[in-house]
Amino acid sequence: MRVGVRREQRAGERRVAATPETVQQLTALGLEVAVESQAGTAAGYGDAAFAAAGASIVPELPAESLDVLLHVRPLEPETAAGLRPGTITIGFASPGSELPGVGALAAAGVTSFALELVPRISRAQSMDALSSQALVSGYRAVLEAALRYPRFFPLYMTAAGTIPPARVLVLGAGVAGLQAIGTAKRLGARVSANDIRAASADEVASMGGTFIHLDLDSQTAEGSGGYARELGEDRAKRQRALLAPHVAAADVLITTAAIPGRAAPLLVTAGMVAGMRAGSVVVDLAAESGGNVEGVIAGRDLQIPVDGGSVTLVGLQDAASAMPSDASRLFAKNVANLLALMTADGKVVPDFDDEVVAGACLTHGGSVRHAATAEALEALT
Ligand code: NAI
Repeated sequence: MRVGVRREQRAGERRVAATPETVQQLTALGLEVAVESQAGTAAGYGDAAFAAAGASIVPELPAESLDVLLHVRPLEPETAAGLRPGTITIGFASPGSELPGVGALAAAGVTSFALELVPRISRAQSMDALSSQALVSGYRAVLEAALRYPRFFPLYMTAAGTIPPARVLVLGAGVAGLQAIGTAKRLGARVSANDIRAASADEVASMGGTFIHLDLDSQTAEGSGGYARELGEDRAKRQRALLAPHVAAADVLITTAAIPGRAAPLLVTAGMVAGMRAGSVVVDLAAESGGNVEGVIAGRDLQIPVDGGSVTLVGLQDAASAMPSDASRLFAKNVANLLALMTADGKVVPDFDDEVVAGACLTHGGSVRHAATAEALEALT
């Protein structure tokens, strides 16, 4: 069967859904792999490396002759519409926000797998692209902050004087937040963090951070699958009030809080940012989904005037794509592992009795299989 790897279409996207390593993995399973010319160049994987790994390099992917299409970003509705019925697609699909694309996949009779829907169970960890890309984003967020911060992160005791370590506060200690904590620690900062899931206190401590306990009744903030549940407005307000002194004391603030399928929770008001010291840096990783920080704009650096200078507010965008080589290496492995799970004797045949396959399937046989997305799509039409 023929697997296509496409050149990403979205402006600024530098990742690719396969690497020479995963091409070898897939060809060893008896699959034929065609890579669109230059698909991996921005990520550091050239056409020659793909060809050496056993792929054929094609100027354009022939949509009508593909059995499987691998991608990073959600497919545009027109791309989905051009696929023949029965084509299998694997990649991010943003089912919560890209409903026209989901509708087009269903209408074209495509069997699509959305990496956002891969169940978060131990067996599926090697296919969990949300985690692998959050790891990259969390690391990157700290580097972006460090480059904008006008002081050192580590403690320096020199003949010319002592420089205290930066105080880094991380809000939201999921996969990205924990990576941010670990990265800031490795750079020598003093790190504290908060999350509304009770389990996160131990996780923060294991990365070397100090957990900030807030009196919020965290037990009820825990939803299914280890994810957080949205706080009611009263508790959200209380959380902001309790966080205010911690935000004011931070030199660097990294926010990563998210609730699956919802806009990002507002954790930091404009007033809280205005209470930070001049020179402080705020990096909002949730900027693309509405932001944890009031006033943030995805893809922009804002200078917020404060006493004696300004605070830099960064709306981080495409953080994983900014480190395309390793982000692609992990992403491509996630994709190849999911495809391998469905492949036997050189044929890709999804087994919907498998919890991972069934859970990750977004559209099949002309309909939307993921219930929440099907409902949202119905409400739209
Ligand atoms: P996410 O990206 O959906 O959210 C990031 C973090 O924001 C979460 O830790 C969440 O609790 C936190 N958050 C939400 N609202 C908040 C608020 N108001 N204040 C402070 N923090 C808030 O989550 P992510 O990173 O994808 O993973 C969350 C959890 O999912 C993990 O910690 C783990 O328990 C589970 N997980 C399980 C995996 C597995 O078993 N294979 C793999 C990855 C994650």
